[in-house]
Amino acid sequence: MGNESAIGIHDLSFATTEFVLPHTVLAEHNGTDVGKYHKGIGQRSMSVAAADEDIVTMGAAAAAPIIERHGSDGIRTVIFATESSIDQAKSAGIYVHSLLGLPSATRVVELKQACYGGTAALQFAIGLVRRDPTQRVLVVASDVSTYELDSPGEATQGAAAVAMLVGTDPALVRIEEPSGVFTADVMDFWRPNYRDAALVDGQESIGAYLLAVEGSWKDYTEQGGRALDEFAAFCYHQPFTKMAYKAHRHLLNHCGHGVDEDRVARDLGLTTEYNNVIGNSYTASVYLALAALLDQADDLTGRAVGFLSYGSGSVAEFFAGTVVPGYREHLRTEAHREAIDRRKPVGHARYRALHEHSFPADGGDHRTPAESTGPFRLAGLHGHKRIYEAR
Ligand code: COA
Repeated sequence: MGNESAIGIHDLSFATTEFVLPHTVLAEHNGTDVGKYHKGIGQRSMSVAAADEDIVTMGAAAAAPIIERHGSDGIRTVIFATESSIDQAKSAGIYVHSLLGLPSATRVVELKQACYGGTAALQFAIGLVRRDPTQRVLVVASDVSTYELDSPGEATQGAAAVAMLVGTDPALVRIEEPSGVFTADVMDFWRPNYRDAALVDGQESIGAYLLAVEGSWKDYTEQGGRALDEFAAFCYHQPFTKMAYKAHRHLLNHCGHGVDEDRVARDLGLTTEYNNVIGNSYTASVYLALAALLDQADDLTGRAVGFLSYGSGSVAEFFAGTVVPGYREHLRTEAHREAIDRRKPVGHARYRALHEHSFPADGGDHRTPAESTGPFRLAGLHGHKRIYEAR
């Protein structure tokens, strides 16, 4: 694919929450050896949303710097991917469109297929740009991951949003044509409409994820994809960062490579640095892996990166991207570090109270305490309508 027809990620920016819960605090509270969290699942802390934060405030905070840098010209589509949706009908993307002051000549839609939704959004965006190369698409993947208190899934919560500008001649990563896709009807993770917290069968989800790795890789090779040795690094969906290691070892074995731990560390090492302190961000997770890789790697110019996006239920896709010359001038490394470092640690009691917080469903006027300090906040609920404010 020549440069002139290349389509991919032109800019990438992420945002996370006001608060953070270190796994040492969780371990102390529930009597777990913290080694299980730090080593066993590969998590050190997880982002916790304030009462006045949600997928919209994080999504808008992630996307605002992109609009600031590039303007909104040519953006005719906003695709908002999430599996922690705030409304059964209205796209969360419309609130983001409004908070960012985007033009009315825009189509906005919300996509769902568990943690795979962000990749569906990216691929659909590429299709739209392929049809009209003058257009750019704003993709926002934003989630607050919530499992029940005191359940095995509790340690694998988190929250973040990644925004990506998709267009021709991308400044960061060209997304390549062959894509390997895979779908299997499994019940490893789901959230019925009447529940706030997801239901998960953790061991089933690990098995389903590994099957999906095999299936999507098989299709990728049948579509004429690259050989495994051509990749400089692999960005996996990371519900907990240890999962990326399980998946990559599985792929190496499946391809008859044997498992060389130095190679595994080289292929994955840098991609887990943001996810292991943010926690599971569902749709955003695989793109946080990309941000961590680009922000930290010495120089990936011209190198191929493999992406494995998995969404329970399940759908997976394996695809490749090539890192573009000059990409380092366009990174947001400092802002990303700041988004992580600015979070305030919360105590265990406060974390549990925030976890259990929900609005009364009486249609009344319910203001949220002003806890967050980011650029956008959820001011409350009035007559069943969410009220957002820009600072
Ligand atoms: N020190 C080091 N490692 C330890 C340890 C210790 N003290 N105690 C346990 N471990 C290891 C275990 O050996 C295990 O490692 P392995 O998977 O390599 O065998 C790991 O820690 C987890 O232990 P396990 O007993 O399996 O934990 P669990 O029953 O609490 O479940 C998850 C862990 C990840 C399955 C659970 O948190 C979960 O279901 N999370 C949700 C996952 C999800 O979101 N899936 C859907 C999207 S893909």
